Amino acid sequence: MYKIAVMPGDGTGPEVTAEAVKVLKTAATKFGFRVDLTEFDFGGERYKRTGETLPDSAVEELRKFDAILLGAIGHPDVAPGILEKGILLKARFELDQYINLRPVRLYPGVETPLKDKGPNEIDYVVVRENSGDAYTGTGGFTMKGTPHEVAVQTAVYSRHQVERCLRYAFEYARKYGKKARGRGPENTLALCGKTNVLTYIYDLWERAFHEIGKAEYPDIRRDYYHVDATCMWMVKNPEWFDVIVTGNMFGDIITDLGAITQGGMGIAAGGNINPEGVSMFEPIGGSAPKYTGKGVINPLAAVCSAQMMLATLGEEKAATAIEKAVMYVTANKLKSLAAGRMGFSTSEVGDLVAEKVAQ
Ligand code: IPM
Ligand code: MN
Repeated sequence: MYKIAVMPGDGTGPEVTAEAVKVLKTAATKFGFRVDLTEFDFGGERYKRTGETLPDSAVEELRKFDAILLGAIGHPDVAPGILEKGILLKARFELDQYINLRPVRLYPGVETPLKDKGPNEIDYVVVRENSGDAYTGTGGFTMKGTPHEVAVQTAVYSRHQVERCLRYAFEYARKYGKKARGRGPENTLALCGKTNVLTYIYDLWERAFHEIGKAEYPDIRRDYYHVDATCMWMVKNPEWFDVIVTGNMFGDIITDLGAITQGGMGIAAGGNINPEGVSMFEPIGGSAPKYTGKGVINPLAAVCSAQMMLATLGEEKAATAIEKAVMYVTANKLKSLAAGRMGFSTSEVGDLVAEKVAQ
């Protein structure tokens, strides 16, 4: 029995979350486990009503769950940053979800903007550090509103933060790298940094990367790329990548690039993982407010988030069945992954996946 907190959130979040929950319940029945779901209404509407984002009491309550399934946070009537910082980043930080795991995998039948690349080439994972960098809110203004205004926002990393992320990434590469999955001759971890300009932050990352790699993971090949070059090779030679590890800011940016190469926000899923605590799974796209309530949004990213949640909880068989069902649906059913062009409604896509999981 798993206690799952469900936070559908804003915009199309509730529609896609409903489909993820549908698939989750089907998988539970089929694979013999139970899910006890509790819904929370944190998001833009609640903020508008009550001024509340994610109160401390809610964080304490969320700690009691086995995992959190999140739809989307972001509301057109709320100034940027309030809900993001107040809900999404607060949950990530307070629950110390220090890994943001984002697979970049092109499923069969899905169109990619990359010429001559298919599911064999676009198949890697980004381990994005999720607790530090420019995301910590360190900084401020002086002389705000004057011509001499100065704004500072500092990227911050401790050796401890970097090490725990690197160890997770090395372990992940050992377990799920290309060799481990029978897809290549070796397991590779690539550090994505900017050692030529960010000579403090990424110097720390690079030293820790090689020290830990050499001492504890000699079986894993280590590569290094600057972030700008990473973007180039993700487009030109995505097959070079296996597991990529990087800081929070670069991870944010390169995973949107990765997402579009795997078919876009309709399919890209991620996990905010605390390996020792409560993790939270979410589609990596936003709340897509313009599609709200139309039943045209693609729920597969939310379904894949639920799939990652089950894999993390140890329900590997159910997770594999969901991924296979998603692959069946992309290969045989959907016309496109884009909102409104799938050939099916949001709930029909959920039904297609659920039916396949139940078989
Ligand atoms: C993401 C999003 C968030 C981030 C925003 C909404 C704060 O872009 O999950 O990638 O920057 O982490
Ligand atoms: Mn992002």
